[in-house]
Amino acid sequence: MIRKIVIPAAGRGTRMLDLARDRPKHLIDVLDKPFLYYVLKNLEHAGFAEMILVVGNHAEKMVEFAHGVGAEFPLAIIDQFKVMGTEKYGTAIPVLAAQEAVGGENFVCIYGDNLYSPRDLAAIRELDDAFNYVSLLYSETPERYGVPIIEGERVTGFVEKPKTFISNWVSIGCYKFTPAIFAEAAKVGKSERGEYELTDAISSLAEQGKVKARKMLDYWMDFGNPDDIKKVGDFLQQKK
Ligand code: G1P
Repeated sequence: MIRKIVIPAAGRGTRMLDLARDRPKHLIDVLDKPFLYYVLKNLEHAGFAEMILVVGNHAEKMVEFAHGVGAEFPLAIIDQFKVMGTEKYGTAIPVLAAQEAVGGENFVCIYGDNLYSPRDLAAIRELDDAFNYVSLLYSETPERYGVPIIEGERVTGFVEKPKTFISNWVSIGCYKFTPAIFAEAAKVGKSERGEYELTDAISSLAEQGKVKARKMLDYWMDFGNPDDIKKVGDFLQQKK
């Protein structure tokens, strides 16, 4: 069973506007707790023993969180800007920043602004094999996401924000990786939007036949826009 999870949470949170001006968007309150608290609670329910939170913008607020409300979780903090510098940006960078903490083990990786069910998170812990996995959900707007090209259960390619239709099954930012991801992430060059994309590293692994796709069973909630605060709050309330 996989023990470690890497949680990239270094981003600027620009779509949250003023709400994320003085803190990472992950720490915006939903009901009476920061959004990140609910993410970690579900990871705890799923049985993760080591949670590696990669921070950057407003890092000091994350440290405060880890010593306060977050103290009940097995949480380690890595500052992406200290390990990787501030120049390189994009989803491949926090994964590289976590390389030493992960070591030679398989691990799961979820973005810190995404909420998944404990059942889905527990299921992905069981994929402790030699493959990398991309989690999928059906979407009516696949052009907004990363979309894998799939043959059977094998992923043969991965297109970020596809301009022509590939499929409605999109990647929802929940991955299982083997340590092979690190060498590929280190090779990634700047993308069209000027970022170092984790999806380019996954593409390389896919070309080598090392990636599979799997469907999620339950829910996924993205915490990106001000409207999401009420959406997530209503959802959590209704689940109580
Ligand atoms: C990121 C990933 C994309 C994935 C999405 C899910 O995109 O790059 O492949 O579909 O998360 O939320 P971003 O939110 O950075 O545009």
